[in-house]
Amino acid sequence: MMASLLHLLLLICHTTPTSGRQIASQTPKSDVLDWVDPLIGSRSGGNVFAGATLPYGMAKAVADVDGENTGGFSTDGSNITGFSALHDSGTGGNPSLGNFPIFPQICSGDDINTCKFPISARAAPYKSDSIKARPGYFGVTLENGINADMTVSEHAALFRFDFSKAGTGNGGADPLIMLDLTDLWASRQNASVSIEAEDRGTIGRMKGNGTFLPSFGARSYVAYFCLDITEGKIKESGVWVNNRAGTQPKSLYITRGFNLFYLQGGAYIRFQGPLSAPVLARMGLSFIGTERACQNAEREIPGPTFDFDGLVATAEEAWRKKLTPISVETGSVNNSVQTSFWSAIYRTMISPQNYTGENPHWQSTEPYFDSFYCLWDQWRVQLPLLTVLDPTMMSNMVRSLLDTYKHRGWLPDCMMSTCKGWTQGGSDADNVLVDAYVKNLIDIDWEHAYEAIVNDAENEPLEWSVEGRGGLTSWKKLNYIPYLDFDPVGFGTNSRSISRTLEYSYNDFNLATLAKALGRDTHMKYLTRSTNWQNLFKADQKSSINGIDTNFTGFFQPKYQNGTWGYQDPIACSPLASFCSLTSNPSETFESSAWEYMFFVPHDIGRVIELLGGEEIFLKRLDFFHATGLADIGNEPVFLTVYMPHYAGRPGLSAKRVNSYIPSRFNSSHAGLPGNDDSGSMASFTIFSMLGLFPNPGQNVYFIIPPFFENISITNQLTNKTATIRNVNFDKEHKRIYIQSVKLNGENYSRNWIGHEFFTQGWTLELVLGEEESDWGTKLADRPPSMSSIRGEMRMA
Ligand SMILES: *[C@@H]1O[C@H](CO)[C@@H](O)[C@H](O)[C@H]1NC(C)=O
Ligand SMILES: *[C@@H]1O[C@H](CO)[C@@H](O)[C@H](O)[C@H]1NC(C)=O
Ligand SMILES: *[C@@H]1O[C@H](CO)[C@@H](O)[C@H](O)[C@H]1NC(C)=O
Ligand SMILES: *[C@@H]1O[C@H](CO)[C@@H](O)[C@H](O)[C@H]1NC(C)=O
Ligand SMILES: *[C@@H]1O[C@H](CO)[C@@H](O)[C@H](O)[C@H]1NC(C)=O
Ligand SMILES: *[C@@H]1O[C@H](CO)[C@@H](O)[C@H](O)[C@H]1NC(C)=O
Ligand SMILES: *[C@@H]1O[C@H](CO)[C@@H](O)[C@H](O)[C@H]1NC(C)=O
Ligand SMILES: *[C@@H]1O[C@H](CO)[C@@H](O)[C@H](O)[C@H]1NC(C)=O
Ligand SMILES: *[C@@H]1O[C@H](CO)[C@@H](O)[C@H](O)[C@H]1NC(C)=O
Ligand SMILES: *[C@@H]1O[C@H](CO)[C@@H](O)[C@H](O)[C@H]1NC(C)=O
Ligand SMILES: *[C@@H]1O[C@H](CO)[C@@H](O)[C@H](O)[C@H]1NC(C)=O
Repeated sequence: MMASLLHLLLLICHTTPTSGRQIASQTPKSDVLDWVDPLIGSRSGGNVFAGATLPYGMAKAVADVDGENTGGFSTDGSNITGFSALHDSGTGGNPSLGNFPIFPQICSGDDINTCKFPISARAAPYKSDSIKARPGYFGVTLENGINADMTVSEHAALFRFDFSKAGTGNGGADPLIMLDLTDLWASRQNASVSIEAEDRGTIGRMKGNGTFLPSFGARSYVAYFCLDITEGKIKESGVWVNNRAGTQPKSLYITRGFNLFYLQGGAYIRFQGPLSAPVLARMGLSFIGTERACQNAEREIPGPTFDFDGLVATAEEAWRKKLTPISVETGSVNNSVQTSFWSAIYRTMISPQNYTGENPHWQSTEPYFDSFYCLWDQWRVQLPLLTVLDPTMMSNMVRSLLDTYKHRGWLPDCMMSTCKGWTQGGSDADNVLVDAYVKNLIDIDWEHAYEAIVNDAENEPLEWSVEGRGGLTSWKKLNYIPYLDFDPVGFGTNSRSISRTLEYSYNDFNLATLAKALGRDTHMKYLTRSTNWQNLFKADQKSSINGIDTNFTGFFQPKYQNGTWGYQDPIACSPLASFCSLTSNPSETFESSAWEYMFFVPHDIGRVIELLGGEEIFLKRLDFFHATGLADIGNEPVFLTVYMPHYAGRPGLSAKRVNSYIPSRFNSSHAGLPGNDDSGSMASFTIFSMLGLFPNPGQNVYFIIPPFFENISITNQLTNKTATIRNVNFDKEHKRIYIQSVKLNGENYSRNWIGHEFFTQGWTLELVLGEEESDWGTKLADRPPSMSSIRGEMRMA
């Protein structure tokens, strides 16, 4: 089937626009990009990057605000403090990047000191209805009338500042563009800027560098910029420090300042007003050097006149190309369902970021990707989604992980702004590599991958806070990570003994999968280690909420080195208690409760069902978990729990649960994400769920539920074959969400799961839907594989 034909159908099969934003257009959407709203998740903790970027691009231009600014911009009503071009998307914690913001102003009078330089002085409100966000483009009008819009190439951004509607009654005003040597987190250690204005006539150039701290990692990084500003005649230029500026000197070196007195400083260029055209500011970026930043800009956005519209068109085309492998026949679902879907796909391709050629740490001909922020989030759904939608890119990312292992000696676990980030749980790159293996990604050296994973499994690094695993001596000797482990070998936060035991077990399971496939005799050893999770199961542990017994027995509990049980309240770290991160409230379970981690045994849910007392109690426990607020739907460990009923032969209950969360917790509003997007994790949960195929990564397994559209097709990039899922009796009101029967390529199909061959071979699934659960997919033989019961072959045929 031709993707382009289906695409055409997509264009025809939408309904009349209903939401406010869409009424304005009134015309059918003829462009898939019209379904992408980059502002979804731009407030209430989604932390998405809402600005202009290319797919996986390094340059990310947006307005930065002084409110929820982890990703730069937010629709939370806070003020704009600058426009910058490096960002991360959806991350939690400290704001990331946002280096070297520039800011346009009209200052009254001739005296440069009437301009507002420090961040709190210059912060400016914008017209709330002026935000224009589209793939590759972001625009906003400040309350004072200055319009700013921006677009990007791979390593450079182009900003356009239009002063023509600003400063009315101030005709002689002379517009100013200032640059601040800071980042969103005010993490600058020291920085430099120099100006070459006068000698370049009507073009002014500023260039420089700065040393900053990674927002969730160790040590520091240096970023470089090269800013060219064009249009109009330069009146003056100079540097500023705190709230004072002057035309001499033409360069500045600034340190951090003393304690809480963070020094503010940078450079400025002021034009002779009024201007006949908008000012264009081209910001080249690099992590290698200033000259490289200038070259990046000159190569990607050539001058002397910059083609803003051409650059927007190129960015749009790049995004359209990324979205074409998918097409849907909507079955008349409403616009918000479509907007959620396409916007989520868009968000999965913002980060990780392609920093190939911009790696300051080693020389290599291999690809270099950054913003694996963090793999703990990304391995579960986002990277598996890219394996489906963009396998060539995913293969490049895997090679980049392996090249990092080659040069740093360890696979990364979390990476941002070229630094090592903090490890949250296990060595999650192991899971990424093995998922890529079982899904047959190409151009990857699997022997090298095996070596890298064995290194994680066998050798403890000195600083396991940023790589590898801690407590390996205990892991090998006691077969669990002890509570308050004695570990003089290496150092990290000595917490999370339960969640690390669970994660290391799954890491070892994945290693066993690869070992077996490569014919290594270590296979059984790692398979045995992958059962270690059972050593922390305390069969008689009870759990109460507000003093009332939940009547479920058996939870994971911490265990000391001497074998004695410790204690952590099973509801601790759940939304009913307080959040447990690395830094706040470190506990034996990371960012989730023992309730939630009870279901984190991706390789042996069959055994979990047995331990908890059988299917009926297992399902009851799942219901209780989701119904009472113990489940944290805004964080990644919960995702798999939504699909657990498949293992108990009740795929209909998974479908029902998905429908209870989408769209009520994942929708198209600006506050439409239940937690940090974490690159594109919330996005990928939404997409896989709407597709009706959800992965258990590391295994060649997708759970089947009815998709949210009548028909969906996905063309595989490696084989050019198109896989299709069709719903018979599709119901856009979502009353018929239960699968009655399934045909795979025209033949009856009773398994409630399917392998990745579905995508690569371009198969067709036809689902017949009904209002009640049926016996489809319920039999033992129809359930996904569990390690301790019947094991399917884990790699694709
Ligand atoms: C934004 O800036 C304006 C003008 O300085 C100020 O009055 C307003 O309180 C600020 N808004 C916020 C949300 O800080
Ligand atoms: C800038 O700060 C970094 C990090 O603290 C330090 O390594 C470097 O030496 C400093 N550079 C200068 C020129 O002081
Ligand atoms: C930053 O720029 C200054 C001024 O050109 C230079 O002296 C310094 O070495 C640069 N720092 C780095 C880390 O490149
Ligand atoms: C979905 O596919 C089926 C089978 O090919 C077809 O009958 C139906 O019209 C399609 N639905 C839409 C909305 O195009
Ligand atoms: C990553 O960026 C480099 C440098 O811009 C480019 O050559 C390469 O094609 C990109 N990789 C992918 C997979 O797009
Ligand atoms: C657990 O059982 C006890 C005794 O039957 C009952 O009082 C209590 O309400 C039950 N707990 C819950 C959460 O239903
Ligand atoms: C085991 O160690 C814990 C923690 O040090 C201690 O409280 C407990 O009494 C010890 N158990 C035995 C049997 O020695
Ligand atoms: C959309 O999702 C957000 C975040 O989960 C939620 O707070 C909101 O209630 C949802 N809106 C609708 C209309 O369901
Ligand atoms: C897939 O299609 C592309 C573009 O038409 C072509 O270059 C490529 O060789 C095809 N690949 C396969 C495996 O057929
Ligand atoms: C769109 O359809 C979904 C699924 O039927 C429904 O939950 C949602 O409320 C609808 N949204 C609007 C804005 O009509
Ligand atoms: C396929 O399933 C249908 C019921 O869904 C049944 O009537 C039919 O006999 C089955 N065909 C085969 C060949 O098993």
